[in-house]
Amino acid sequence: MTVGGKEDIEGLKEIGKIVALTISEMKNQIRAGMTTKELDEIGGRFLRRYGATSAPKITYNFPGNTCISINHEVAHGVSGNRKIKEGDLINIDVSAELNGYFADSGHSFQIPLYTPSITRLCQYTHATMMRVISSLKHGVRLNEVGRIIQNKARKGGYKVITNLCSHGIGRSLHETPENILPIYDKHDKRVLKEGMVITVEPFLSTGAEYTVGSRDGWTLCVPDNSFCAQHEHTIIVTRDQPIITTVA
Ligand code: CO
Ligand code: CO
Repeated sequence: MTVGGKEDIEGLKEIGKIVALTISEMKNQIRAGMTTKELDEIGGRFLRRYGATSAPKITYNFPGNTCISINHEVAHGVSGNRKIKEGDLINIDVSAELNGYFADSGHSFQIPLYTPSITRLCQYTHATMMRVISSLKHGVRLNEVGRIIQNKARKGGYKVITNLCSHGIGRSLHETPENILPIYDKHDKRVLKEGMVITVEPFLSTGAEYTVGSRDGWTLCVPDNSFCAQHEHTIIVTRDQPIITTVA
């Protein structure tokens, strides 16, 4: 969507804050030994307490409140009886709706015991997302997103998962501009406009460059033994620095 005024910005910030708080709550309560279903329920209860509804549930009939992906799972992980273990690489991706406004955010982190290589991957992916966000404003080409992600990844010694894109959001979970590629596409002539609402979500990996589906029909995994991290914020484009809606 493109915001029409103050009311839209407030609506987007309200659901953005709830999404950010939901991720924090889940991250605070996660423990080795807990099942992913228990973790998802913590998120689901938190969203309901604020009157918000799970976006993947209402949009795609996703079987869960949040997406929880572990280790070689990259995105859209379905929660269940799997027990979270020490040292697991976790991605929590929460998207939700309130009063017709949507927000989408994701966060990768490791449960102790920490390993330096996974810590660095998570931190580097977060820095990449923030680098992209700080470069976006009215008049900038949309393909800057992919150009920066690709350059940053290369500098850090990582690969980019090329089939997972950033996207427009606002009045629904996925809307125009769709398919904002994580690699540079010189043919993409689209330009960012003031008020445009999009996500920025790089997926960086230690080896894989694409994901494959799995038997549950939802979870996307790397095709090998590499690890992948994602960080995601929802932003509103302005003539200056973007407004990040998904902050507490
Ligand atoms: Co997301
Ligand atoms: Co998204």
